[in-house]
Amino acid sequence: MSLSSHPHTFRLSPADYNALTTNAAAQPELYWEREGRRLTWTAEPSAAYCKEKGWFADGALNASVNCLDRHLEKRGNQNALIWQAEDTGNVLRLTYKALHERVCRMANVLRSLGVKIGDRVAIHLPSVPEGPIAMLACARIGAIHVVLFGGFSPEAIADRLADSGAVVAVTANVGRRGAKRIPFKTTLDAALALHPDAHSIRHVLVVSVTEDDVSMDAGRDQWLSPLLDAASSDCTPQHMPSCAPLFLLYTSGSTGKPKGIVHGTGGYLVWASYTHDLVFDHQDGDIFWCTADIGWITGHTYGVYGPLLNGGTVLLFEGMPSHPSPGRWWNVIQDHKVTTFYTSPTAIRALMREGDDVVQRYDLSSLRVLGTVGEPISQEAWSWFNNHVGGGRCAFVDTWWQTESGGIMISPVPGAVTEKPASATLPLPGIHPVLLDEQGVPKAGATEGVLCLRGSWPGRAISIWKDATLFERTYLQPYPGFYFTGDGARRDEDGYYWITGRVDDVINVSGHRIGSAEIEDALATEPTIAESAAIGVPHDLKGQGIVVYVVPRAEAPEDLHIRAVKAITSKVGRYAAPEHIHIVPDLPKTRSGKNVRRLLRKIACGETEGFGDLSTLANPEIVVALVELVQSTK
Ligand code: WTA
Repeated sequence: MSLSSHPHTFRLSPADYNALTTNAAAQPELYWEREGRRLTWTAEPSAAYCKEKGWFADGALNASVNCLDRHLEKRGNQNALIWQAEDTGNVLRLTYKALHERVCRMANVLRSLGVKIGDRVAIHLPSVPEGPIAMLACARIGAIHVVLFGGFSPEAIADRLADSGAVVAVTANVGRRGAKRIPFKTTLDAALALHPDAHSIRHVLVVSVTEDDVSMDAGRDQWLSPLLDAASSDCTPQHMPSCAPLFLLYTSGSTGKPKGIVHGTGGYLVWASYTHDLVFDHQDGDIFWCTADIGWITGHTYGVYGPLLNGGTVLLFEGMPSHPSPGRWWNVIQDHKVTTFYTSPTAIRALMREGDDVVQRYDLSSLRVLGTVGEPISQEAWSWFNNHVGGGRCAFVDTWWQTESGGIMISPVPGAVTEKPASATLPLPGIHPVLLDEQGVPKAGATEGVLCLRGSWPGRAISIWKDATLFERTYLQPYPGFYFTGDGARRDEDGYYWITGRVDDVINVSGHRIGSAEIEDALATEPTIAESAAIGVPHDLKGQGIVVYVVPRAEAPEDLHIRAVKAITSKVGRYAAPEHIHIVPDLPKTRSGKNVRRLLRKIACGETEGFGDLSTLANPEIVVALVELVQSTK
């Protein structure tokens, strides 16, 4: 697609963009100092970056003031948050004034419960306004929010509560998923009961999304609404040092235990504002809809912080893409005149299946920018989204980034970078990707390699909660001198990047990161399983699906399949349920006893030959046995 086919006016021209890229490369300090002025500081930072101290290190600010208070004068009556409930007729519009007031009340409720600066507050909520409100309320009083995805199992929640040491949890009686009710409160109760001595939760605040009653622990649980009504709408914000943690967000890596990624305040907010502004061509009057759950980083940076920092309007939708009938998402875009629509390739693949006639029934002419994130998008899905949803009129931003990067890193910039279907295109001004060979040497020109980043950027995570050494070991030590992303990529002759997927043992199911080791650790808790290996394989709808090999301890019990699934869904969550479970006598191993995942992956993908030299294996005969076993289940 060429730029000239966009009828829209975008803010940046190719020349503007080139100037930004050149300036950022030539004078990074000056460039980021200027970008730092996007925020309102109570103490201006004297420098942008210091290797030892971090980003805008001697600056101080408050995140909620930057998202709300400073807009009140000019935008007090503009919508900050539009909530579209599951039922069509139920819409809540909160102006900047109204959102500010709710955040202040919530912040006062938290303070009244004894939440102090640096305390952690867990947020386990469906897509309701109280999610962003609770996040901003934490930020207002200098507490650290820890949002826990609604799909986590009680075990997964319990682990994260224990690791974060959260003192208050905010949840809902239930969540609505179509006609179904998701038992948020009951799940949290189960998590708290699992290891009562391991967590520090003193209070549970419950949002009533529906009339459904839930059991309340008299000393611990309270309905949120009456507390908010009674609280003052005046709340002095806490000024925080730039590098104070704003939030923790747990994500999966190659190690078994999910890591609490720590994001700082000043740097993260600059990055959220900068990237939202540039990548989504933010303009006055935009209605920005990010379909990601706030339990993930996309929901944090583009469902809450980025658009609000820039004085935009966020749309939050409670429901699902196709409930009560196919076309519901298009209906939401039409009704609310969404200008900027940010979603996942997984969602697009599902929506494509509904047929072109569904989307054609709606007026989607308000759209100006379409975006995707979370996984590679196929050319087919790219073109469908671009043509059928965007009508060929919109800018399309395939954005590559990760929890640890805080915000978008590689992406087209509307009006400035010519798109190529299914390529994340070019790094944002100020970002320097490199492709390394296996020895860690950068490769030049059109090539493929391990994707790393040179230098730092304001949005980079500042640590792993309680484990700074693990941060170093995971991201900085694998390729000394570079930040290791865990992804592989190809660079073409125009310098465009094409992300090829993870090079580590992280599986990306519907855009959700799941560590192989996390699944294997879960399976290890099932007494009849001696050993296991989890592998990601291509999946039509989910991008990747999970295949599990299980070696039973002795005679496999008849219900081993069920036990294995239960171990995974109870430890991790339903979203990690495997596509296939192969019960096998053994796994291919090197002589030093390590599983050969490369072979397991090929076999799981249905390959029957091309396994290379097997003579170095301790048990080469197992390969043929596994191939036969997998083939027989097809
Ligand atoms: C993958 C989500 C291809 C990648 C923001 C990355 C992508 C992981 C893209 C991070 C993209 C994200 N194209 N792959 N545009 N965006 N990924 O932490 O493997 O949930 O490392 O952050 O998703 O997932 P995370």
